[in-house]
Amino acid sequence: MNFYVMTLFPDMIEQGLNTSIIGRAMEKELLSIKAVNIRDYTLDKHKRVDDYPYGGGAGMLMAVEPVVRTYQAIREDIAAKTGSTERPRVVYVTPWGRPFHQEMAREFAREENLVFLCGHYEGIDERALEEVATDFVSIGDYVLTGGELPAMVMIDAISRLIPGVLNNKDSAEYESFAGNLLEHPQYTRPEEYNGKKVPEVLLSGHHAKIEAWKKEQSLLRTQKYRPDLLEQ
Ligand code: ADE
Repeated sequence: MNFYVMTLFPDMIEQGLNTSIIGRAMEKELLSIKAVNIRDYTLDKHKRVDDYPYGGGAGMLMAVEPVVRTYQAIREDIAAKTGSTERPRVVYVTPWGRPFHQEMAREFAREENLVFLCGHYEGIDERALEEVATDFVSIGDYVLTGGELPAMVMIDAISRLIPGVLNNKDSAEYESFAGNLLEHPQYTRPEEYNGKKVPEVLLSGHHAKIEAWKKEQSLLRTQKYRPDLLEQ
C-alpha cells in the first residue's frame, strides 16, 4: 500500500513514522509513505502558500493552487509507480470531518493508494477541497495545530491491518474494538507483585475456562469504560 501525505511539514511525517513496526514494514516494502511538501508546488516567488481570507476573519488560509499542483504531482507518481490513472482517495484531516474509527481503518486498508491532505493555518480554500478531497475525517472532538498528527494516527491504524505488518497473524484481530469489545486485562511475570496476584484461571492451563474468563473481562471492561460500544 502506498501512502502519500500532502503537508507543509514533511519531516514530521517521515520522522514520526520511520521507526518501530511501521518502519520495519516500509523496509519490507509492505507499504510506502511519501510526504510531499506543498511548499515545493507554489508558484509564488517568495514560496508563500497562504493568503488572507476574502470577507475577513482570523488568520490565513492555505491557497488553492499549491494544493492542487501537489495533488497532480502525486497522481503522476502513482501513475508511474502502478500504472493507475484512477483518482485516489484523498482524506482531508479536519476537526469537522467524520470521526475516525476501526471500521474506517479497515476500509482504507483495502486501498492500493491513499492520500492525506494536512491543513495548517486557519484552514484551506474551499476550492482546493472541491478539487482534490474525497473524504473528510477527524480523529476526535478537539482541535490540533495541524493535520500531521491526525494523518500519522490514521496511517498507523491502517498500516497494522495490512497483511504481514504485524508479526503475529492473530494480533490484528485480537485487538480492542474487535467485535466492539475492549481488550481484557493482561498479565506477565511475576506471578505476584505488591500483594497483587495474577488471576488464578490464567495459570490453570484450562483453555476453555481461560477463553471464557477473557470474554467476561472484555464485557465487564466495556460496560465500565465504553458502555456506548455495547449499545451499537
Ligand atoms: N486538525 C486539527 N485538529 C484535528 C482533529 N481533531 N482531527 C483531524 N484533523 C485535525
